[in-house]
Amino acid sequence: MTTNWLWPRIFAHRGAGRLAPENTLAALREGARLGARGLECDVKLTRDGVCALLHDDSLERTTDGHGPAAMLDWTDWAQLDAGSWHSPAYAGEPPASLRAIAHACRALGHAINIEIKPCPGREAETGRVVAGQCAALWADAPLPPLLSSFSFETLLAARQAAVQLPRGWLVEAVPPDWHDKLQALDARALHCWHEALSAAQVAEIKAAGYAVFCYTVNTPARAQELFSWGVDALCTDYPDQLTPARCGIG
Ligand code: G3P
Ligand code: MG
Repeated sequence: MTTNWLWPRIFAHRGAGRLAPENTLAALREGARLGARGLECDVKLTRDGVCALLHDDSLERTTDGHGPAAMLDWTDWAQLDAGSWHSPAYAGEPPASLRAIAHACRALGHAINIEIKPCPGREAETGRVVAGQCAALWADAPLPPLLSSFSFETLLAARQAAVQLPRGWLVEAVPPDWHDKLQALDARALHCWHEALSAAQVAEIKAAGYAVFCYTVNTPARAQELFSWGVDALCTDYPDQLTPARCGIG
């Protein structure tokens, strides 16, 4: 494992995003209840520039809203029901702001990986605003949030806004220019889709001094294999099943 890996090795994906409505405070709390010490969440901007949790570009799948997320201001967004789509037990669960998640996360002593997921056309703006707000919300925290994004432009803007916050570039298959990109971003880690990753690639990335974070790993056997390759951390939909002990790291 990379010696400078500061965070837990298992993160709850979108909170415990299958066991509770993804990217909500309820999901965060469920992940904590199940013992996860790290949380991954997706953050984008409302129309009026508030940092809010949502995976998709549109509202339909995980709220009772409609249309593009980038068309709604926070005052309206905050009224949506982000829980009923998941199950009746979560009816009325409100959408989460980054501010609320930061407070809950810090109160629980959780580490966080904030995936910055800009709406199309707002790549640089979203990187700048989210990183700036993270720098303020975690200013005196013992552990900084790990910022990540599939968007190179977003991470560059995040770097300009808050150079002190660690960054990870998200990819599916490892691209040929991965090393140049990580250098340009002064990134800490490459976040890879585990199904397109080999042991040889992990060794090469780590030999260059970068950490490897895998998404989204849902069986203990696969987690054990990835950790045996030297993978530093991963996220999972099932933090109840992927405990450190069952993943061979406990
Ligand atoms: O951050 C890793 C993972 O969350 C990326 O995929 O689509 O679940 O945000 P997605
Ligand atoms: Mg994500």
